[in-house]
Amino acid sequence: MAAASTHRASRPPVGVVEALGTAVPPHVVTNDDLAQHLDTNDEWVRTRTGIAERRFADPDTSTGDLAVEAGADALKAAGGDVDTVIVATTTPDRMLPGTAPEVASRLGLGDASAFDVNAACAGFIYALPVASGLVATGTADRVLVIGAEVMSRIVDPDDRSTRVLFGDGAGAVVVRSGHADEPGAVGPFDLGSDGDQTHLLEVPAGGTRQPIDDHAIENRHHFLQMDGREVYRQAVRRMVSSSRAVLAQAGLEVDDVDCLIAHQANARILEAVADRLEIPRDRCVSNVGRYGNTSAASIPLALADASLEPGQQVLLTSFGAGMAWGSSLMTWPDLPTPDPT
Ligand code: UT7
Repeated sequence: MAAASTHRASRPPVGVVEALGTAVPPHVVTNDDLAQHLDTNDEWVRTRTGIAERRFADPDTSTGDLAVEAGADALKAAGGDVDTVIVATTTPDRMLPGTAPEVASRLGLGDASAFDVNAACAGFIYALPVASGLVATGTADRVLVIGAEVMSRIVDPDDRSTRVLFGDGAGAVVVRSGHADEPGAVGPFDLGSDGDQTHLLEVPAGGTRQPIDDHAIENRHHFLQMDGREVYRQAVRRMVSSSRAVLAQAGLEVDDVDCLIAHQANARILEAVADRLEIPRDRCVSNVGRYGNTSAASIPLALADASLEPGQQVLLTSFGAGMAWGSSLMTWPDLPTPDPT
């Protein structure tokens, strides 16, 4: 007993996930709903993407609103406050300031430190090691990490090639300091980016490079533009190589992975990643059919749909605009039993 605690004490602390929370807007939008306005159909969308429906926020609901809801859900489960809030989003409430400070205030977290991470669809995967580093160094005691997006507001309502893909939602985890052998421990991590490929997936206007003016609006540059085929190809390649990198760092084999949670962009991408990693498809979480691609919210929303035993090995991997990608290992947390009230 004494030897075990000495061994533990000598090992560096890591981030440990202790609670999960989610929020999705109530408005369900089916493929048939979209086909009323766009030249598309349910069969095409299901076959090419696996998506059957997604949630769209109503016009009064912002990313911050969904973040507050998911954050409150996670805090309730954790049963206590946090001193840092990170909001991973690429659809912030406004250009300045970040969305996180207002979310922290609305959650009643006093003067908690709060900031946004923008790594697009990989945002949550980037925020997780940031949170882990903050608690491991003692900079923070407990961190609320929220992935939240209202993608429907930046996707062109008239572009069938992107409109059908994305959805809105939020997911959150509470991270505290702990030990690598505890259920919920996160890491190691692998992160990467390739800014030469920015043009493959971007909202060109609205920042300092191209303000939103008549020219931008005429060219639909205030909406998301994507080269779907090339993004697809790179998404598979990068999630596979990044997954292999974290497994190698941890000294694990694919057979050690009990569950793969990959960014929910497209069911075909999920299958291709699993197949190339040689992880059986029945060990993969897929909820893209219900939510579409919710960008930074996709990993925490998928976490909430995985039901595993504490200590089981989970591989998280994501890829998105930037291009930016990353992976993390995590053991399934010992989650508190939900309070029915
Ligand atoms: O979060 C990370 C970012 N996003 C992704 O990871 C998405 C990555 N890409 C993809 O998931 C897929 O490339 C798409 C789902 C976007 C497209 O699937 P695809 O099999 O690569 O189709 P495609 O782009 O090659 O298009 C095939 C055809 C085209 O028509 P033509 O040129 O062959 O006549 C498209 O115009 O399908 C057409 N098309 C549609 N047809 C009906 C594109 N969108 C639609 C639509 N409904 N919604």
